[in-house]
Amino acid sequence: MANVMPHRKLSTTTIHIMALDGIIHVNSLFTLGLFLGLTLYPDPAATLVSGSCSAGLAIAENLVSCHVYSFSSFLFSSLIASALKQAIKIANVLIFSFRSFCCVFFVLSAFSFISFLYWCHCSGPCYSQNQIMTQKQDKFIDLLWFPSAWNHLSFPSNPPLKLLKIALFVKKWPHRSHAGGLERHALTLHLALAKRGHELHIFTASCLNCSFPTYPISSLYFHLSKPTAAGYLDQSIVWQQLQTQNSTGKPFDVIHTESVGLRHTRARNLTNVVVSWHGIAYETIHSDIIQELLRTPEEPQAYALAERASKVIEEVKFFPKYAHHVATSDHCGDVLKRIYMIPEERVHVILNGVDEEVFKPDVAVGKDFKKKFGIPENRSLVLGMAGRLVKDKGHPLMFEALKQLLAENDTFRRSTVFLVAGDGPWGARYRDLGTNVIVLGPLDQTRLAMFYNAIDIFVNPTLRAQGLDHTVLEAMLSGKPLMATRLASIVGSVIVGTDMGYLFSPQVESVKKALYGIWADGREVLEKKGLVARKRGLNLFTATKMAAAYERLFLCISNDEKNGENNCKYQSPLI
Ligand SMILES: *[C@@H]1O[C@H](CO)[C@@H](O)[C@H](O)[C@H]1NC(C)=O
Ligand SMILES: *[C@@H]1O[C@H](CO)[C@@H](O)[C@H](O)[C@H]1NC(C)=O
Ligand SMILES: *[C@@H]1O[C@H](CO)[C@@H](O)[C@H](O)[C@H]1NC(C)=O
Ligand SMILES: *[C@@H]1O[C@H](CO)[C@@H](O)[C@H](O)[C@H]1NC(C)=O
Ligand SMILES: *[C@@H]1O[C@H](CO)[C@@H](O)[C@H](O)[C@H]1NC(C)=O
Repeated sequence: MANVMPHRKLSTTTIHIMALDGIIHVNSLFTLGLFLGLTLYPDPAATLVSGSCSAGLAIAENLVSCHVYSFSSFLFSSLIASALKQAIKIANVLIFSFRSFCCVFFVLSAFSFISFLYWCHCSGPCYSQNQIMTQKQDKFIDLLWFPSAWNHLSFPSNPPLKLLKIALFVKKWPHRSHAGGLERHALTLHLALAKRGHELHIFTASCLNCSFPTYPISSLYFHLSKPTAAGYLDQSIVWQQLQTQNSTGKPFDVIHTESVGLRHTRARNLTNVVVSWHGIAYETIHSDIIQELLRTPEEPQAYALAERASKVIEEVKFFPKYAHHVATSDHCGDVLKRIYMIPEERVHVILNGVDEEVFKPDVAVGKDFKKKFGIPENRSLVLGMAGRLVKDKGHPLMFEALKQLLAENDTFRRSTVFLVAGDGPWGARYRDLGTNVIVLGPLDQTRLAMFYNAIDIFVNPTLRAQGLDHTVLEAMLSGKPLMATRLASIVGSVIVGTDMGYLFSPQVESVKKALYGIWADGREVLEKKGLVARKRGLNLFTATKMAAAYERLFLCISNDEKNGENNCKYQSPLI
């Protein structure tokens, strides 16, 4: 017995020392992993500085502090473990009884384990603040109260939960590919919904000389009417048409109006109306301010700002008459809630989307396009602009900046070329700038998709602060970085970080600075930014994403709780 005791004591000490060694080793591994994790995060678009990460600054701060805390705990426990080990070795006796030693050991391990869990939790994929909150509280989100863009959510692409009868009011239905943003939105969205099997009734203006387009979709119906002299839908006629269709077959589940296609005077008593805004007066004030600042003394004042302010007041008064509102940019959603004071649960942000089958990267197509339009191979930078070449799209500003750049810097002139797609009064002026600017004229959708592939960066100098431009979204899906005016809708929804593009203020000096910056960065950097842009585009700005979000909103608005439907609940797939 006396022989056995010292031997037992000795082996317990060894075991304890080994256990402490274990803690130190495991901690070192965790520490290493942690730092590798932060630097070599597998998803380059989700780094802390990246804008494609939808989390706010607060989350980024949290993540960093989490890492700091857990790192400290690792260090702390490692140090204590080392210290204990030394103490045991030096004394070479058991200072602690077996029991109390166990206790210390357990506390240390628990400390490490908790730190590790903490780290795992903190360094998970980048979620928006709202999603994290939801994760913590309840795995269901009430969609009507969802504060961010619905594009961040993912809706299954399986057949719809139920088929809806939908009415759409739109001032004009596009006949050719060059239609305004509002009409293109109507077309992209409602063709997608009809293809998914919903019954779509489109109330729109007839056109005099054109043949109305036909579509091979059996659930799509057009109800045409002669527009008023001002170009609006004749409200009494369309209302009559609506009533007729509402009492034929089943009544409408949802009535969607693009802007004021259906006037509030008709819409005010209906609970199933959804209006999409593509530019509201409050946003336009920013454009007015820019235009006024850029105005030369000879030009007359274009729009009295006071007049615009009273337009805002008017809108604040009538907007609430519509039951539900869709904002097409994050900024617009904010204004509708904050300035227009529409209750949160009636404002939904659904960002615009464009056809991801048409707009996608294709290097070969881009090369062909360059060859076809004689773009010299030796130019190291190809910049592109597309859209109407008019004043409020910022072309006077761009023209002046380009003129100065080409005159003042030979190297810049020899290494760059600008492609300009579209037509308008500024086309001829761009031609005057010489061989550096190639004006392509208006392009149909197929050729526009080729155009995006031929350029290194898409430049959008628009001064229109209202709505959300489709061209920037198309360029993003084509894998191109952007340069655009620092407008709230762009900054808040599109170019949310420098890793996908460049912003400038609507002043000649600022445009020049941005162009020099792009030139200095060069093609390689632009390609990287293009990848980030495409990633964000695929995540948020596809037509599929937009249609899925609207479909869900329409399902939610026509939710039949008595029949056990819960289309307003969203189960977070993040858990
Ligand atoms: C319709 O056609 C007539 C003659 O064919 C032409 O004068 C008129 O401008 C056209 N209207 C529109 C809206 O294109
Ligand atoms: C359509 O018919 C339903 C059922 O009769 C009715 O509740 C609804 O108000 C009608 N909608 C319109 C726009 O008249
Ligand atoms: C809406 O309801 C109000 C009051 O209930 C009524 O005076 C008005 O005529 C209704 N408007 C329409 C378009 O039905
Ligand atoms: C052109 O601009 C670049 C970059 O700003 C500068 O390094 C270069 O000296 C300029 N060249 C001329 C001719 O001004
Ligand atoms: C590119 O080639 C054209 C002739 O094809 C030439 O005029 C121009 O100077 C060249 N530019 C550069 C940057 O080499």
